[in-house]
Amino acid sequence: MEITSRRILLVSGPNLRMLGRREPDIYGTSTLEQIEAWLITEAQNLGVEMNCFQSESEGEIIKFLQNNGPHCGGVIINPGALTHYSIALRDCIRYLACPVVEVHLSNLYKREEFRRTSVVAPVCVGQVLGLGKWGYYGALKYLVENIREKAGAPQSP
Ligand code: DQA
Repeated sequence: MEITSRRILLVSGPNLRMLGRREPDIYGTSTLEQIEAWLITEAQNLGVEMNCFQSESEGEIIKFLQNNGPHCGGVIINPGALTHYSIALRDCIRYLACPVVEVHLSNLYKREEFRRTSVVAPVCVGQVLGLGKWGYYGALKYLVENIREKAGAPQSP
C-alpha cells in the first residue's frame, strides 16, 4: 500500500460482518457493507480515502494493522468482543504512530458488566459509544481534522 497520510482505515472485528441481522435492536439494521459504502463516500467528500477491513480473526486484524497502519493518517476501529480482552490488539495499536479511534455501535455502559472494560481504550486517542453508525462518522470527521491540522491547513471552528 502506498504511503499517504490522506488514507484512513476502518477496521471491524469479529461478528461485525453480521450487522443488520445480528441483534438489530442493539446494533441497528444497517449491514456492514452499507456502513462501509456510506463512509467511503463521506471520506471522499472530505478529501480522504478510506480502506475497510473486517475479520473474525484477531491475528488477521493485527497483521492488517501491522502492514497498513504505518502507511495511513488514522484508524477507526470497532474491535467487537476483542475490545474486552485482546492485549495483543492493544500492543499492536500502541505501536502505531497514527491516531486510532475506538468506536462501538452500542453504549457499553448500558450493557453487561464485562463490556465496560476496554483493554484498547488507553492506547486510543478517544472512544465513541452508543451513537450507532454515526459514531463512525464522528471518528472520520475527527481524523480528517487531525490530518488537516498536521498539514497546516486552517482549522474548522
Ligand atoms: C460492539 C460491542 C462489543 O461488546 C461486542 O462484542 C460487539 C460490538 C459494538 O459495536 O457495540 O461485537 O463492539
